[in-house]
Amino acid sequence: MKVLFVSPEVSPLVRTGGLGDVVGSLPLALKKIGLDVRVICPMHRECNNLAYRSLNKSFNLGSATKPYEGNLVETSLGESEVPVYLIKNSFLYDRPGIYSDENGNYEDNPERVFALCRAALKVEDITNWKPDVFHAHDWMAAPTCAFLNAKLQSRKQRPDQASVLTIHNLEHQGSGTYDHFKISGLPLDYWNLGFDRFGSLNLLKSGIQHADKITTVSPTYSREIRQDGLGHGLEGSLQYRGADLLGILNGIDEKSWNPMKDSSLPALINPEFPKEGKISCKNSLLKEMNLVKTKKSPLFGIVSRLCKQKGLDLLLKIFPRLLRNSNAQFVLLGSGSEEQEVCFMKLAQQHPQRFAAFIGFNDRLARRIFAGSDFFLMPSRYEPCGLAQQYAMRYGSIPIARRTGGLADTIKDFNDSKPVGNGFLFDDPDPHQLLKVIHKALEIFKNDDLFQKVRKNALSSPCSWENAAKQYAQVYNWSMEKNLNFKS
Ligand code: GLC
Repeated sequence: MKVLFVSPEVSPLVRTGGLGDVVGSLPLALKKIGLDVRVICPMHRECNNLAYRSLNKSFNLGSATKPYEGNLVETSLGESEVPVYLIKNSFLYDRPGIYSDENGNYEDNPERVFALCRAALKVEDITNWKPDVFHAHDWMAAPTCAFLNAKLQSRKQRPDQASVLTIHNLEHQGSGTYDHFKISGLPLDYWNLGFDRFGSLNLLKSGIQHADKITTVSPTYSREIRQDGLGHGLEGSLQYRGADLLGILNGIDEKSWNPMKDSSLPALINPEFPKEGKISCKNSLLKEMNLVKTKKSPLFGIVSRLCKQKGLDLLLKIFPRLLRNSNAQFVLLGSGSEEQEVCFMKLAQQHPQRFAAFIGFNDRLARRIFAGSDFFLMPSRYEPCGLAQQYAMRYGSIPIARRTGGLADTIKDFNDSKPVGNGFLFDDPDPHQLLKVIHKALEIFKNDDLFQKVRKNALSSPCSWENAAKQYAQVYNWSMEKNLNFKS
């Protein structure tokens, strides 16, 4: 089975978040079980210094009415042998951000998206490697499914290719106008086949309509998004495609996230005997963040984008009480909403011994926070999957999170009468519920036997890609099934 991942990001080449991590690690797990997987992604500015090999002279990335010359270059995924094709066109992709800059989303995003989709379909002509399945990730790649259907329909032969769309976050859909749509060069009747949403262009919706199979990144999220008010306006389309929609829980790259080998850590953590490594990592993190070292204070970590989804406003509401009524300490790493950045900086100034904030993103510091903290806070309003709680557990930090999406699928609430849980969960996006569950965690922290037990459970939580890879392989097979039923 030959599968081409179509994505706007792929870690470690270019990444803004979890989508990049998934596209950078799932292909390796698929390769392990015998699939031939490759990735295509735009050559964003971050990729400019990579070593690569050119594959062709140039081809038209645009439509007949609006042509763009571009070409493909080849590199590989980290140290693996998974080929990555990068689309080179400096006008479209050599920009400060992937999706936006300080003035907001790029106005020509639809054109940049269509160029990615078009290049994905060209891969077979340029490389002689013909994908069986196009696996599109999120709104920026979603219309690939429509481009494929347009191509297959125009040939009027039995189709021999299929598409799968994975939705990592339904909040981001990619919008534009009918004029933008016309630049795609797709048949104009496709406007009513998924691209139109109340008179505006909706790129993600086109993928939901055209993909042969649709996945989301956790089973709970795949159920939530069909419910009224939880599908970011696309619940109707998702209900319509319900029979073809399923959730597959993300794994993490266990090789890169290995507390026994991670060079960013001041001490290594052995999941079997974590105590010593965790103490060293905690002490060193306290020092690095200029927090005071006390014997009995639990340390809470937060590594997050600062946006409404992540629910950190709930935390901001309870911080004054929490700081007053407990001895807890906090380290935050994040960036996003200016308002929240300012609030967290203020807290750090007001409580320099107990609250440290680092505004920005820094992969190595993130790892030290996972390793050095006792608990990890993730009060997301919604969470398609969430990787941070999985990284935290792997590094022995116990997650405290809201029971939603992938958080509900990866975290089992700890209950002292039946100590099987690996974290703490609360139900509603309500600051009082969050405070209550944090207090529960603080109580457990005082009982070292119980605390060590929960930490052991977190450290031994399954997080590999193995299971997910098998499920994706199954979905690829299902997506090809429609071709067998083709009647001309
Ligand atoms: C998005 C989602 C996150 C998910 C990630 C990878 O960033 O918000 O929940 O883990 O994609 O699928």
